[in-house]
Amino acid sequence: MFITFEGIDLSGKSTQAELLYIRLKKKNKKVIFVREPGGTVISEKIRKILLDRKNKNMLALTEFLLFSASRHQLTEEIIKPHLKKGYYVICDRYFDSSTAYQGYGGEVKPDIINRINKIAISSLNPDISFLIDVSLEETIKRRKKLRKVHDRMEAKTRIYYKKVISGYREIAKIDRKRYVVINGNKSIEEIHNNIITKIENLTIK
Ligand code: ADP
Ligand code: TYD
Repeated sequence: MFITFEGIDLSGKSTQAELLYIRLKKKNKKVIFVREPGGTVISEKIRKILLDRKNKNMLALTEFLLFSASRHQLTEEIIKPHLKKGYYVICDRYFDSSTAYQGYGGEVKPDIINRINKIAISSLNPDISFLIDVSLEETIKRRKKLRKVHDRMEAKTRIYYKKVISGYREIAKIDRKRYVVINGNKSIEEIHNNIITKIENLTIK
């Protein structure tokens, strides 16, 4: 089963992806946990370029193509072979991140996003995707608490992030069969339990 987690920065998706990973591991399931951009040697190198604040003049399309290149490498090198061997693959972000950030939030046209996305993932769709939905205000509070410095992607404006949030909601609405929207303002434990229930329902069916 291929499971992805989506949401804006600091929504809590990595926390949930990791908790799910630990839970499945404890149940002796074959499971791997990867993150985007990254997850392979080449993809981690691309990640560095994408997050480097020195790359101020990166064009919107260059950014999207780099995310897609990193994703393609991860899909072919790690995700597909593990799915074939019967693993649960948990991925912290996948192509919906590009649709939300570079498409809804940014300047890349929807038809380009959709075409390149399909090529990058070699038509591999997640079985289930969780959108951890939080307000921008909540993530600002969390950032202050963590005293986290912005990377290049995070240094974008409030308007940009608002567009990404509503973009994610739209994506989840369009693909209701695959998506589960979770209120990310609930406690970590409550969200985790919601996710487990959904996964178990899917496995039993
Ligand atoms: P993301 O992967 O979406 O950037 P993280 O999982 O790294 O987010 O979480 C960002 C911060 O928010 C961490 O300090 C984490 O402990 C905290 N956090 C995560 N989930 C919740 C939650 N449900 N309620 C309050 N704080 C949370
Ligand atoms: P990361 O530190 O992994 O953030 P997070 O913990 O929130 O996942 O950085 C990834 C950044 O890249 C994040 O700001 C979201 C952005 N991103 C895109 O803009 N498009 C994409 O396709 C992906 C995968 C990530």
